[in-house]
Amino acid sequence: MKNVFVLSKKNIALLGMGTVGRAVYEEIKSNVSSVLVKDITKKRNIHFSEKIITNDFEEIIQDNNIDIVIELIGGETPAYNYIKRSIKSNKNVITANKEVMGKYGEELLDLAEKNNVFLLYEASVAGGIPIISPLVSDLSANDFSSIRGIINGTTNYILTKMANEKLELAEVLKEAQDLGYAEADPTSDIDGFDAQYKISILSRIAFNTNVSIDQIYVEGISNIKSTDFAYASELGYTVKLLATASINNDNNLLVKVHPALIPNHVPMSSVNGVLNAVEIKGDLVGTLWFQGAGAGAKATASSVLSDLIKIQNSEKKINVNRKNTYKITSMDSHFCQYYLRLNVSDKPGVLASIAMEFGGKNISISSVLQKDLHDDGSADLVIMTYPSLERDMQTSIKQINNLDTVFNIESMIRVESYN
Ligand code: NAP
Ligand code: HSE
Repeated sequence: MKNVFVLSKKNIALLGMGTVGRAVYEEIKSNVSSVLVKDITKKRNIHFSEKIITNDFEEIIQDNNIDIVIELIGGETPAYNYIKRSIKSNKNVITANKEVMGKYGEELLDLAEKNNVFLLYEASVAGGIPIISPLVSDLSANDFSSIRGIINGTTNYILTKMANEKLELAEVLKEAQDLGYAEADPTSDIDGFDAQYKISILSRIAFNTNVSIDQIYVEGISNIKSTDFAYASELGYTVKLLATASINNDNNLLVKVHPALIPNHVPMSSVNGVLNAVEIKGDLVGTLWFQGAGAGAKATASSVLSDLIKIQNSEKKINVNRKNTYKITSMDSHFCQYYLRLNVSDKPGVLASIAMEFGGKNISISSVLQKDLHDDGSADLVIMTYPSLERDMQTSIKQINNLDTVFNIESMIRVESYN
């Protein structure tokens, strides 16, 4: 147990005793008076008094001795409701819940402000990396132009294994779950929603703008195959799930999550396994880089406990809720290079017909690899384009998909620019 928590006050309720809840409990045992779980009969390999465990939230909300609630259940229901009720009952709240803070952060932060309590959520983004607190306080003198990063540990773990061990997604997902990295419903990780919630949280703080979830373009990793890593590597790239929020030339904010080709020479390409990394550009500070464990029990507990220390030290309230400085723009306006892997008929003229469709939208091809002739007479064709507008690329893809000689567009990955 850390010295800083050896206060005798039993004033904390812990909601959830799973991967993160357990690690937090180990550090603050003597301060916890209640632990809420779903199944009180579950065998738990941890020593604690039976008296403190409950499945009835009413016991916690009605207990006036509890002034700090740590929510580590996850998901929207019932966590959102429990957080809201705790704030309304004038209890300080710490949460690691990116879904609730991504969807309802604006409302809950306003409510916390009104009730003069803390609502702190450092653990909701990038696990053990302190990122929210620096954005809220240490870097608040800056105007930010971009945030980009790898902010989902599960998918980064999976993509790293796919790249290094030539495994497919399904084979590695179970490992990430066993290590406690994945959400209870791992589609949240795989389909990019977890990163979507997190980039919404970071955008709200950095850009003074509430970005609702449906304003964020999202695409997960389920279409990425190990073969994409081989081709990407030949072209000098690797594949990462990247979340970005950036101000474009029209001074609008574009927020998106999708797999991206990252050049092998930039540091983001070497952020592997469960590590997360966030790169921030501020007008005063320049480029900052944060890297560390993005998931896992102890790393996440570190962030939860840092929030607890803030409350115990009764720092000035930092429920900074930002409003609407920027207009959010859509993915259509995104401009980048593209990697495409197509399964095509191995006949002369295929490339010319594809190039013609691209040409109609002013998209130029920068390189082509033709690989892997399959038994059925089809072949893999890998195309890299010059930078193009997303709107034009989407139209071209539809037209290319209609060509008789193109059997399928197996993957389309955007290339991240580091110019
Ligand atoms: P977890 O292992 O699935 O644990 C969830 C806990 O919540 C369990 O103890 C479960 O009770 C309890 N619970 C579930 N539904 C409940 C309900 N309806 N009422 C009361 N209790 C309920 O989850 P976790 O991995 O610790 O994640 C917790 C939170 O931290 C999530 O918001 C997650 O996104 C976030 N987070 C996780 C990580 C990580 O690496 N795991 C990292 C950063 C943030 P039982 O034990 O009885 O089933
Ligand atoms: N499932 C999340 C991840 C947990 O893999 O990043 C940390 O937020």
